[in-house]
Parts: sequence; structure tokens; C-alpha cells
Amino acid sequence: MTHPKHAQADHDVVDLIRERWSPRAFDPDRSVPVDDLWQLFEAARWAPSSCNEQPWRFVVAHRDQSPHAYDALLSTLKPSKQAWAQTAPVMVLTAVKLILELTGDANRHAYYDTGQAVAFLTLQAQSQGLAIRQMEGFDHSAAREACQVPEGFEPAVVMVIGYPGSPGVLKNKNTGRPSRPRAAGGPRRTSCSPGHGIGNSHRDQTSERIRSRICRVPRMGRFDR
Ligand SMILES: Cc1cc2nc3c(=O)[nH]c(=O)nc-3n(C[C@H](O)[C@H](O)[C@H](O)COP(=O)(O)O)c2cc1C
Repeated sequence: MTHPKHAQADHDVVDLIRERWSPRAFDPDRSVPVDDLWQLFEAARWAPSSCNEQPWRFVVAHRDQSPHAYDALLSTLKPSKQAWAQTAPVMVLTAVKLILELTGDANRHAYYDTGQAVAFLTLQAQSQGLAIRQMEGFDHSAAREACQVPEGFEPAVVMVIGYPGSPGVLKNKNTGRPSRPRAAGGPRRTSCSPGHGIGNSHRDQTSERIRSRICRVPRMGRFDR
């Protein structure tokens, strides 16, 4: 059966991409086991990044495991978003490291790389039956304080994560929105020219060594690297 939010793709794409969408309604009674959550951040960890800097950091607030952190992060969202965001059992602040570890210079690719990591994480979530909505609609300085984000890092988005729920759980004017066909507000056409792509960066031994040395995992208020 086709879900109204599944993309009507012009060209064949894998189901993980076609079926992903960003709900506002989550199942409020279904938590996310911590081990399942780890899989998402493991996926993010394997995203490519310029100089293998992996400039992304995640502060994870789980409603059951860390309710104070969850409430603190929730309170940084715009009030209209808090109403539906709190149906999700997990809230994550994504932050970006702006300075290159290697040289101390500005990392011009930090946001680009972090977006790729979140894309990996999002598709991993989709493969596990989980859904994610990212948000820029939050108070950056309040989030910085709530999550103890130090200088040199910048909050980028807040993500809510959970199992998709029925729009009926929403009590405000957003109720009808998840049922709109995805194409209405969906992805814009991407222009591309096959044959002019840039090749994949290879994973050399150095990057493998760095990966095993620096385990970039979700941190709760730790930005020491
Ligand atoms: C960086 C970023 C910021 C976003 N900010 C918000 C937001 O503040 N509020 C919101 O409801 N959705 C937000 N979204 C979700 C987008 O609106 C959504 O991904 C887009 O409409 C495409 O819909 P789809 O993800 O269901 O395909 C954001 C998404 C991204 C990637």
C-alpha cells in the first residue's frame, strides 16, 4: 500500500529514500531502546568528511534515560514546535566543530560534512522503522547553555527521533499537516550531470587508524575533542 508521504519518484530510487519523510507526530507510547539509538550514531560516524575531521557532535536527550536533559532541550524549541516535538521520545542537538583539528584554521566544510552525517543517520533510522524531523526553529543560545556547548562549536539543528505516530496525537493546528502528500512540499528537483561527478574519496590506512582512535559517539555535554 502506498503511503501519501512516500515520494512519487521520477526515477527509481531505493525504498529507504523514497519512503523517508519527516513526521511531526510520533508514537508517544513507544520509546527507543538505547541500543537501537547507538546504531544511528554509528551510521553517522561512517559518513565521509573533509580531511576525515568528523566535525559533528551529538548531544542526546532521551525522555526515559535523561528526562532533565530532555526537558531542557525541549524548552529551547519555539513554543509552537514544543507541542508536537514532545511526542518524540528522543531529542538530539547536533553541533558543528568550526575549527580544524589538524591546523586550527576555520573548517569551511564543517556544516557540509555534518549534513552528510545526519543524512547517514536519517537513513539508518529509516531502515530501523524510526523517523526523524530536524529543526532550525530553536533558540541557539539557550541550546548552547542547556547542552553546555563550548566556544568553537555551533549548534546546528535539533532532531526529534521516534516511531511515527498518528496525526491524531497532535492537538494543535499542525494536526492536518502530516497527511499532505509529500510531493506538495517535498524535495526539489536536483540538477545533475552524470559523468561529471567527483569520485569517492578512498579510505586509506591513516583514516582507518584515526577512526579507531577517535570514536565519535553521541556525547552528553562532552565536547573535549
Ligand atoms: C536544516 C533543516 C531545518 C529544518 N527546520 C525545520 C523546522 O524548524 N521546523 C519544521 O517543522 N521542520 C523543519 N525541517 C524539516 C523540513 O521542513 C522537511 O525536511 C522538508 O519540508 C522536506 O520534507 P520531508 O523531510 O518530509 O521530505 C528542517 C529540515 C532541515 C534539513
